[in-house]
Amino acid sequence: MGVITTEECHVLVIGSGGAGIRAALEAARYGDTILIGKTIAGKGGCTVMAEGGYNAVLREADSIEGHLEDTLKGGAFLNDRTLAEVLVTEAPDRMDDLLRFGAVFDAADGCTIAQRPFGGQRYPRTCYAGDRTGHEIVMTLLERLRASGVQIRNEISALELAKDGKRVTGAITSTIDGEIGAIAADAVVLATGGAGQIYDITTNSTGGTGDGYALGYRAGAELIDMEMVQFHPTGAVYPYDARGRLITEAVRGEGGVLKNIEGERFMKRYDPDRMELSTRDVVARSIATEVLEGRGTPRGGVWLDVTHLPEKQIEERLPLMLEQYLTFGVDIRKEPMEVAPTAHHMMGGIRITPDCRTSVPGLFACGEVAGGVHGANRLGGNALAETQVFGRRAGEAAGRSEVRRKRIDPDQIRSAEEKIAAFKDGEMKPSDLIARMKQVMWDGAGIYRTASALTAAREAILDLASAQPNASSGPEILDAWTGQNMLLVAGMILDGALMRQESRGAHVRTDCAVRWSVVDSPYGHTRISPSYRGIEVLRRLP
Ligand code: FUM
Repeated sequence: MGVITTEECHVLVIGSGGAGIRAALEAARYGDTILIGKTIAGKGGCTVMAEGGYNAVLREADSIEGHLEDTLKGGAFLNDRTLAEVLVTEAPDRMDDLLRFGAVFDAADGCTIAQRPFGGQRYPRTCYAGDRTGHEIVMTLLERLRASGVQIRNEISALELAKDGKRVTGAITSTIDGEIGAIAADAVVLATGGAGQIYDITTNSTGGTGDGYALGYRAGAELIDMEMVQFHPTGAVYPYDARGRLITEAVRGEGGVLKNIEGERFMKRYDPDRMELSTRDVVARSIATEVLEGRGTPRGGVWLDVTHLPEKQIEERLPLMLEQYLTFGVDIRKEPMEVAPTAHHMMGGIRITPDCRTSVPGLFACGEVAGGVHGANRLGGNALAETQVFGRRAGEAAGRSEVRRKRIDPDQIRSAEEKIAAFKDGEMKPSDLIARMKQVMWDGAGIYRTASALTAAREAILDLASAQPNASSGPEILDAWTGQNMLLVAGMILDGALMRQESRGAHVRTDCAVRWSVVDSPYGHTRISPSYRGIEVLRRLP
């Protein structure tokens, strides 16, 4: 082991999904930009897997105020209001960028962008490309990226952010073969996505391991609301290998209905006005309750049914769903899908300003790794918009950073090498460690939470974190490193969940009495950094 590559650039973007590529495109206007990703650019993140759509106000009958109100209400008013304002105000412009770059969205009346209804929104404002919207966006961005001069480095993981004093000055990296490198930069943008892989059942790609939260934390950044984990209501239940795979909200947007084992359309008991298009926190809880109370399928799901819709509508608007279920042996034109909640999105993350600055100089964050935009629950369709709005902002702000003398502290590289060297004497295979963690988090920090289950989970996670992973080959070393990142993030989720002694949005504490409505909650953000852990109390309790 030893440093094989040392590079320099003006802006280093870590993470090559939708937000990272958008940030790199913008940063490249200001100077040399390197984009690193632990998979192949555009192919590994969650954006490319996003199905349903991109929210933007495009029609007279809709309004920015309406989109803002829906976003804040959907987020149980925990959102950073300024960030939410930026999201809804700039989403239409970033949609225009995508169209200008060549993205093809479905059209209505032959010439305007079609929009479909999504949960918790007063107006059908979700733009889509069938049920492959993320794929269309990423492929378009990739074309642009290849012509942009951004230097793309595939299959490079960031192990640690490099620091000079208080300032982030680049990153210590590793190839998949375990060769260490260093990239010095004037500014670093974290766009590493979320952490769904911390849970046993998730929609996330294998890359959703929360590396950016861990990197930011170890560099001193403040994180907020890490307990706010969104469980998408509808993940595949069967076949076993496809467990947790995203069954897009667009299915319900197109008119799909949820039924329990008794054939009852149960959402009428939970949200009779919005039914299946209630917000995700409500729909996920309703499904979980049906299953817990014995009205689920034998495999622990409920039915999602589109058999009443015209076959043409299913074929044209939900082609991926149709195709994937045919490979599972189910024709959704004739039979229902079996679905259950699945870990999907982190609403919490690194605290940012509207221009995506973190609390650490030289470090910017955008996309799912950043917290605050969505509050306690995200509206479907707001994440793709977020990647473009805040990706562009992060790239611009990082690009405008001062050009400095570049420096990577050799001690930091040595310390990464020492940590890796110690893995060869470790006691537990990273894959075992990660599998145990996923089960602990699924059982202890899921949709319904209590202090006792959270505390037990926390002890189990601390126990796992104290076990040295055993690894010697390159890929195993990366798994070991990633596993430690995941355990750190799992601990943050549990700490946040224990601190927030209320039910709000996606976070439900069944052991806390309901003492106030979310509008009057005395709790603001939970805050976690290496030097502080606490929850903001906005007013004294009566
Ligand atoms: O259900 C979906 O298509 C997911 C969309 C989202 O998370 O925004």
